[in-house]
Amino acid sequence: MTPSQNYSIGVIDSGVGGISVLKCIRDYLPHENLIYVADSKFAPYGEKTSEEITRRVLTVFEFLDMHKLKSVVVACNTATAASIQILRDQFNYPIIGMEPAVKPASMLSKNKVVGVLATSGTLLSAKFSALLEHHGSDIHFITQPCSGLVELVEQGDFKSPDLMALLKQYIDPLLKENIDTLVLGCTHYSFLKPIIQVMMPSHIEIVDTGDAVAKHLKHILVEKKLLSLSHTAGKLDFWTNSLDPNAASVIEKLWGMDSNTFSYKGLWS
Ligand code: DGL
Repeated sequence: MTPSQNYSIGVIDSGVGGISVLKCIRDYLPHENLIYVADSKFAPYGEKTSEEITRRVLTVFEFLDMHKLKSVVVACNTATAASIQILRDQFNYPIIGMEPAVKPASMLSKNKVVGVLATSGTLLSAKFSALLEHHGSDIHFITQPCSGLVELVEQGDFKSPDLMALLKQYIDPLLKENIDTLVLGCTHYSFLKPIIQVMMPSHIEIVDTGDAVAKHLKHILVEKKLLSLSHTAGKLDFWTNSLDPNAASVIEKLWGMDSNTFSYKGLWS
């Protein structure tokens, strides 16, 4: 099926983290119809093998394939690192991935000491090593896997004592190394940006990738003549396979806009 301008854009993640990217996409592309799919029943992806992650992502694409799509954004650094090439080889519409903002951080950092918070899957991937090699030759990168954070964000937790304690455990070693820039290399962590900001000295710049991904998506749609021609607000459907009875209210809290701006579809698998 050749993609067309009035088809939808899929946005996927292991769970609700990709909603941080979805918000940027909605800002840049207000007239597009968006379908968000959260694989929350199988989150987190961060400590799974690439083969397991690829199997899950292909299952999500199988579901998405029931819709007419013109592009899919893999709003997950871990899934991008594990599967993006396999997806691009298999589907005929543009597939946009994510990677930790190593390049912008290396340009922003004045003292050349940069911290990266991400999942183990992302930090151990060949894609991430190549990224550091390519953009970070003169930078001291300190990487920190953050086991447990995704699960808390999945529950809509942005500020409990448990969350604060976990964050402190991950951030303190970076502060000791005197970082002046911090990369949030997992889309779930973007929701923790305000709390991370207050836990660190104010001169430390925090960078994530949602905005750049949304801009890139728009560029690709323009280039491929796939931009929607509509002048009315696009539709937004949220699909999740979460078994948590609070899933809808977590999504509503993270989306943070009037719930009339989306429809909640519940279980997709
Ligand atoms: N949100 C994801 C990312 O950007 C994945 C988190 C996970 O499921 O471990 O990497």
